[in-house]
Amino acid sequence: MTKPIQIAIDGPAAAGKSTIAKIVAEQLGYIYIDTGAMYRAITLKALDEGINMASNEEAGALLMETEIDLQPSENGQLVFLDKKDVTEDIRSQNVTKAVSEMAAHELVRLRMVELQQQLADGRGVVMDGRDIGTHVLPNAALKVFMSASVEERARRRFVENKKRNIETPLEELQEEIAKRDKMDSEREVAPLKKADDAIFIDTTPLTIRQAADEILRLAKERLS
Ligand code: C5P
Repeated sequence: MTKPIQIAIDGPAAAGKSTIAKIVAEQLGYIYIDTGAMYRAITLKALDEGINMASNEEAGALLMETEIDLQPSENGQLVFLDKKDVTEDIRSQNVTKAVSEMAAHELVRLRMVELQQQLADGRGVVMDGRDIGTHVLPNAALKVFMSASVEERARRRFVENKKRNIETPLEELQEEIAKRDKMDSEREVAPLKKADDAIFIDTTPLTIRQAADEILRLAKERLS
């Protein structure tokens, strides 16, 4: 059997990374790790506990006493925070608006990267996030940086939200996505950035299936 590879998928908010990464992982029989869900989970806890979100030390200390677990299920990946299922809660607008501040802290990132590297160790994995190709899996056999225009990303998120009965106006989504991209790209520690050896895919004109097929083609090239 061919040795499994690690696939890193990075890109800005709502670029379709997780949907596409899931399909790729399923087709290859690999595990899928949504690192954004991990940052969302610690943000949910920070909001619930009312810690000072601007403090690197407080945020880092909170994470050290927190257990975050990702588990595959028939309905997609489940996220557990201190053993409680928070899969839905981490998608709230409150968490979405606060997550980039938490994710900018050095102590939070150091610990998250450690956890993510442990999860990926020695297995076939598709991992998506912002710093996977640059920091978490710098030796990944395949790195993809995926993007789409802000308008298209907001439109996709709008359609996705509608299916889940969430009614956020399109303009608000566009604003939130642009703000998060700016914070994630301009932070000092491990900013959102294309790794030099990553392949850029503009998904604006592509369907989910087309984007997944392109990544699968690239993965098969590396596997052969
Ligand atoms: O992928 P998702 O949009 O759920 O990620 C939520 C937030 O988590 C991002 O906006 C970013 O601030 C943070 N994040 C990160 N590094 C990652 C994954 C996510 O900083 N690898």
